[in-house]
Amino acid sequence: MALSVKGITKQIRSRKIVDQVSFEVKKGEVFGLLGPNGAGKTTIIRMIVSLMKRTSGEIFINGKSLDKDFKGALNEIGAIVENPEFYPYMTGYQNLVHYKRMSRKPVSEERLWEVAKLVKLEDALKQKVKTYSLGMRQRLGVAQAILHQPSLLILDEPTNGLDPQGIREFRGYLRELAGSGVSVLVSSHLLSEMELMCDRYAIIEKGKLIHIETMAETTTVKQDDRRDILFATDDSESAKQTVEKQLHFPVSIVDDTRILVSAAYKDAAVINATLVGSGCNVYEIHFEKKTLEDRFLELTNHTTGEENQ
Ligand SMILES: Nc1ncnc2c1ncn2[C@@H]1O[C@H](COP(=O)(O)OP(=O)(O)OP(=O)(O)O)[C@@H](O)[C@H]1O
Ligand SMILES: [Mg+2]
Repeated sequence: MALSVKGITKQIRSRKIVDQVSFEVKKGEVFGLLGPNGAGKTTIIRMIVSLMKRTSGEIFINGKSLDKDFKGALNEIGAIVENPEFYPYMTGYQNLVHYKRMSRKPVSEERLWEVAKLVKLEDALKQKVKTYSLGMRQRLGVAQAILHQPSLLILDEPTNGLDPQGIREFRGYLRELAGSGVSVLVSSHLLSEMELMCDRYAIIEKGKLIHIETMAETTTVKQDDRRDILFATDDSESAKQTVEKQLHFPVSIVDDTRILVSAAYKDAAVINATLVGSGCNVYEIHFEKKTLEDRFLELTNHTTGEENQ
């Protein structure tokens, strides 16, 4: 395991801002910590990177205990917790060299360029950091965090302030990193973004971990999942009548050719057969994919606030 968090708690005065949280991150996995503002995500991350003391619980990074082998465990981590700080008047290269010198492990010149290439900054490395866009700074932050080849990269809200293109590219680097065997722990309250980024995730609410599952489990449609199934036919009116009369599923009309039938996934086949059987050509069947947001709402009975982003 790249990371094992075992029952960690942070109590401040009488309040538990993180309460008995346990989870594991596997090798090469992108794992998400999801939850609304104030849920405790940053606090969990600060305890893992030892910027904050735990009240109780244990943390193992690549099998090394933070309590018993502090230096060894920390060597396994690369992190961007607060905004990474750089010297704006130095070039990207000079900044990385600076970090390379401060690194707890020796870092070769070759490794520096390998990392620059991975985050697609090789060409910009000779520019001063003050000329960098936010996205480039973010990438330099990742480069700096992975210079010493950590087994676990930790990122707290890494895409804050990035534009859609920047976020998309960022996902690409994370995937590449994960592909090369680095595990990633990433926090966010942006569900649509996490859906595309993570292999597995935990939902944190009011300091407690309430659920863990894989993104595949979340978004894969199950036989009994009920939603609006779209059918494209020649004529919506006759299609609606056929489905309502013969199968008694509620139908709404989208336009001249498309209807929405409220039914389970497994009913789609019989609806299709019924339509075709009564002379109604079917050109398209679309079953809307379940999103992480749908799942989040199911699990938390909350609104996500995503619409305000
Ligand atoms: N040092 C502290 N002293 C007292 N309360 C704190 C401290 N640090 C965090 N908290 C409280 O703990 C809760 C969790 O905060 P945390 O920053 O971990 O949330 P978060 O999930 O990262 O939220 P966000 O999405 O806004 O970043 C909040 O209610 C916060 O006010
Ligand atoms: Mg936070």
